[in-house]
Amino acid sequence: MTGSATPATPATPPGREARVPLLELRDLRVTFPVAGGVARAVDGLDLLVEAGETVGLVGESGCGKSVTALAILRLVGPDGHIAHGSSVRLEGRDLLALPGKEMRAVRGNHVALVFQEPLSALNPVLRIGAQIAEAVRAHESVTRATARWRAIEMLTMVGLPEAERRARQYPHQLSGGMRQRVMIAMALVCRPKLLIADEPTTALDVTIQAEILELLAELQRKLGMAVLLITHNLGLVAETTQRVAVMYGGQIVEEAATEALFARAAHPYTEGLLAAVPRLDEPRERLRVIPGQVPPATSWPAGCRFHPRCPYAWERCRTEAPPLLEAAPGHRARCWLVEEPARRTRADAPPGEKP
Ligand SMILES: Nc1ncnc2c1ncn2[C@@H]1O[C@H](COP(=O)(O)OP(=O)(O)O)[C@@H](O)[C@H]1O
Ligand SMILES: [Mg+2]
Repeated sequence: MTGSATPATPATPPGREARVPLLELRDLRVTFPVAGGVARAVDGLDLLVEAGETVGLVGESGCGKSVTALAILRLVGPDGHIAHGSSVRLEGRDLLALPGKEMRAVRGNHVALVFQEPLSALNPVLRIGAQIAEAVRAHESVTRATARWRAIEMLTMVGLPEAERRARQYPHQLSGGMRQRVMIAMALVCRPKLLIADEPTTALDVTIQAEILELLAELQRKLGMAVLLITHNLGLVAETTQRVAVMYGGQIVEEAATEALFARAAHPYTEGLLAAVPRLDEPRERLRVIPGQVPPATSWPAGCRFHPRCPYAWERCRTEAPPLLEAAPGHRARCWLVEEPARRTRADAPPGEKP
């Protein structure tokens, strides 16, 4: 929220019912005990996903994206601890308070997850059609024949040629791109309201990546589910998402409509990510990475967590942690530059260039 005297927008637009968001994360905190301390992998994360919406969750490796995805499904493992006070709500329902049995019904049925390694998620000794049919029968009481029919229908929908024949094949008989299509079919066969896709194309080559993203967009339009698209590559979310949340140091550092974010990034971290997106007009992929590295989750820097890597950082950034500030309506950034825009002058610029 901004400190200025902007009138608060009413929670409910006139003439509309108050809606609960599909997914609402509030102050999500996930820790892991590690040698030499506690990794605060996700550290006070707020995120909303509305029904039918596609949201990008973007940040470098180590920022906490996957742990966020796993925490939504309560799959942070025996070591991971979701801190008291964290809130994960699906259509208003508090997932962190659900009994295990109900949580298992949520997984796959209401919220599905696909990730980078389809091979590790598929059973190597089961034919793919049978695996998908099994996913149906885990959540719905249908006959074997119906489940099998649903599997083939879904394989067709994800663009697997000759779906009936392919359904009898084993995972190793398919290419990487085809396996990812099978994973998506398995994830969507129970028609979840939310699909979480965690780096779904990272292991694939560039042309196949584009095909899978196009497929996800097409399925989203056909089936109407919401998608949380997680990636380290800001370029991937440009065309398929409505909103983008940028993550750094276990927190959201910028959030905006996709167009607004690409037109005018408010956070220097987002600026850095944008500069690192490979551009087609450059003959060779020039590596313009953000200098420095994501710090370990055991020791986030004091003040703004990005300040050691930020070209604009000044004293305030080293000591005071900025909250999410409103840069424009619907556009928030965890950066003091929102309050002090005149400071947008690089500390590394030669003295003559400073205003
Ligand atoms: N099981 C775990 N045990 C200890 N630390 C973990 C574990 N899982 C993740 N972390 C730490 O949490 C941070 C965020 O990890 P992750 O969510 O996988 O990042 P991302 O998906 O953005 O690359 C990292 O510093 C990582 O080392
Ligand atoms: Mg990850």
